[in-house]
Amino acid sequence: MTNRQFNRRQFLTTSGLATSALLSAPAFSMMKKEKRRLALVGTGIRGTSFWGKRILDQYSDIIEFVGLCDINPGRLEFGKNYIGADCDTFTDFDEMMNTRKPDLLMVTTVDATHHQFIIKGLEMGCDVLTEKPMTTDEIKCQAILDAEKKSGKKLIVGFNYRWAPHFTKLKELLAVERVGKLTSVDFHWYLNVYHGASYFRRWHGLRDRSGTLLVHKATHHFDLLNWWIDSDPVEVVAHGELEHYGYNNPFRSGKCRGCPHKSKCDFYWDITKDEHLMNLYVNNEHHDGYIRDRCLWNKDIDIYDKMAVQIKYANDVQVSYSLTTYSPYEGWRVAFNGYHGRIDSWQDIPWMRQDKINQSELHAKEMSQDKNETFNDYDEVMVMDNFKDYEMIKIPRGGGGHGGGDKRLHDKIFRDPDMADPYQHSAGSRDGAMSVLIGIAARKSIEENRMVRIEELTDLQPSVKRIT
Ligand SMILES: NC(=O)c1ccc[n+]([C@@H]2O[C@H](COP(=O)([O-])OP(=O)(O)OC[C@H]3O[C@@H](n4cnc5c(N)ncnc54)[C@H](O)[C@@H]3O)[C@@H](O)[C@H]2O)c1
Repeated sequence: MTNRQFNRRQFLTTSGLATSALLSAPAFSMMKKEKRRLALVGTGIRGTSFWGKRILDQYSDIIEFVGLCDINPGRLEFGKNYIGADCDTFTDFDEMMNTRKPDLLMVTTVDATHHQFIIKGLEMGCDVLTEKPMTTDEIKCQAILDAEKKSGKKLIVGFNYRWAPHFTKLKELLAVERVGKLTSVDFHWYLNVYHGASYFRRWHGLRDRSGTLLVHKATHHFDLLNWWIDSDPVEVVAHGELEHYGYNNPFRSGKCRGCPHKSKCDFYWDITKDEHLMNLYVNNEHHDGYIRDRCLWNKDIDIYDKMAVQIKYANDVQVSYSLTTYSPYEGWRVAFNGYHGRIDSWQDIPWMRQDKINQSELHAKEMSQDKNETFNDYDEVMVMDNFKDYEMIKIPRGGGGHGGGDKRLHDKIFRDPDMADPYQHSAGSRDGAMSVLIGIAARKSIEENRMVRIEELTDLQPSVKRIT
């Protein structure tokens, strides 16, 4: 292919989504007289900011917090004040559920504990909304599926990435087979030396807490793949190593604060400069011993820092996926190969945008719930038909977390659950299960050096067309 064939750039500006129109549909919950009673377990950074404070700021006309729970009483108290909730706090989950009887339980604890609260919540007659990953192993996954079936209640998994305009545009193009029948996908995700390193400082670095990044982080990416491809995964083969963080460094200390090696450690991070993290974690260390600025060279870190996964789907689509955790820049690339062409897309690859991106601030900006916060004006998708020229589609990036996706997710859950959803953004337990099962299968594939079939793991049978 010569350069000449690439020189006609046809920019199509698109609103990115049909959802803005859909959001104006009548608000079902607004018509209800009583507020929905919400309880939340896990008052860490995600529970208090994305779910706690944001819900109260945006939906206090239809939602009331009736209880907050955490095993760390200090973080619980700080979290309650930060959210601004007028409700009781509990260190005993059962007591909260029995005395407050919520309609909806929000689970935002450490990944490996989600199942306890999901199952109890369902058994106690509550709908449950859980953060990703739904859970961390196949046994807990089966127990969650069984509990939901038995309870007749609903489990929602908060997959916020699906709602981002950029990802939705890709779904839209694939749904109409813009480049013909899909045959294979290349998907590569790069975590930079700030965001990527942060996983190794926290509980995420321990596989019995996070299930490894193949579950904790890649659940987002596997869910996108399942949703885009619109089929279930069947077979998984993976490789993974820990060859950068953890035991790989010659020196280490307990935590960054007071570290004798700080002058020679590129990863030294001063948590004392962040007042919010000091209040949430450091000032409450004495309750549970959880160190938020733990040394990322600790020898007990037992997750992979580079991962490569091959997935075969029930509709014969093949996927090559990789995740790296020490890239100089943060971003991703995806390519969809169809019978008649190819769709390429990417985000935050610095040289492609010729941008000066501040890598240390990038992740915080992406997570920011400030709707005025924009740090890049648009994303791009390239569509190219075989034997023809290519076209570029520009997707405006909104503020308010994940390019505006976070707001759409919350509106659908809280403001208007009956809102039309032609691209099936909403995710339930089957979606939650299928995404973690790829990560669990990948982990098993690495450990047992073999191809793992998804049907080995739970009683879910992969379907050629995704079941919603
Ligand atoms: N969707 C996303 O983009 C996204 C982003 C960040 C985090 N998350 C998810 O949100 C969840 C919370 O992550 P975080 O970053 O807030 O972690 P965090 O460590 O800040 O918070 C977890 C909280 O759970 C509490 N906890 C742990 N075990 C508990 C138990 N048995 N009972 C009650 N409380 C318990 C801890 O004390 C802590 O306050 C995780 O599941 C994570 O994967 C999702």
